[in-house]
Amino acid sequence: MRVVETFAEARRATEGRVVLVPTMGYLHEGHLALLREARGVGETVVMSLFVNPLQFDDPADLDAYPSDLGRDLELAAAEGVDVVFAPDVDEMYPRPPRTRVVLPELGGRFEGAHRPGHFEGVATVVTKLLAGLRPDVAVFGRKDAQQLAVVRCLAEDLSFPVEIVGVSTVREADGLALSSRNVRLAPEDRRRATALSRGLFAAADAIEAGLRDADRIEAVVAASLREEGIEPEYVALVDRDEVVRLERLDRDAFLAVAARVGSVRLIDNVHIDLTAEGPAVDRGRFLATESVLYRRRT
Ligand code: PAF
Repeated sequence: MRVVETFAEARRATEGRVVLVPTMGYLHEGHLALLREARGVGETVVMSLFVNPLQFDDPADLDAYPSDLGRDLELAAAEGVDVVFAPDVDEMYPRPPRTRVVLPELGGRFEGAHRPGHFEGVATVVTKLLAGLRPDVAVFGRKDAQQLAVVRCLAEDLSFPVEIVGVSTVREADGLALSSRNVRLAPEDRRRATALSRGLFAAADAIEAGLRDADRIEAVVAASLREEGIEPEYVALVDRDEVVRLERLDRDAFLAVAARVGSVRLIDNVHIDLTAEGPAVDRGRFLATESVLYRRRT
């Protein structure tokens, strides 16, 4: 595995069908699932590792973002990554960017409304990664469902010859979706945080039993949060591509929730495919043992 810091070195280190997995580091099994998917579809797997300051609306969140390069490199090597592209801020942004990528509609709702500038930062850095590394495939997690829609949209609108692949969420054994932020939850908040996935799964059960009305589906999730005294920032049944709220579940969608639990802001969702046999809900994959997130910290 090679570790490089510049776009030029990264391009020189790749050959054949190149698959990119963009990350901000502090890897967990959710990232490892993306790397495994990548390994299965291409010849050169490139993992980018860059904590992108442009996408943090809250400087305290950026400061608190966990990092451990040594641990990330070990985990990446074990997954067969060929190239780790770990630029510093000067390589990524030699000067404050004069060009930014803005998706006013897709990036303005839900997460975008609660985190002003977030998707502009994500879309700008992803565009730079696609332009600078020129992958054939790029792999993203379904956990960030709106991000996935934003990336699909920008790749299409800006004519990047790249296939965007979405991979199911990986969850801790009790259902909490894996996130590097989980390590910042206080013990009691870590317990309360399972209300998000519990609510989504209860709503998924109701959907599979025939519920289609968005207000009632969302109410199931909100009730689960309120049982733990958590006030949702939003709960919404969302069209998967256009990222607009649906009144009824009548197309492929995701059911999304965002909430602050203690000092940590969490998001989660389930994806729903409307198949000929009825709705198929992707609840994600559950770990049987404790996540690597908690194994070592610096
Ligand atoms: O999902 C993430 O970790 C980030 O938003 C991404 C896609 C690496 C861009 O910085």
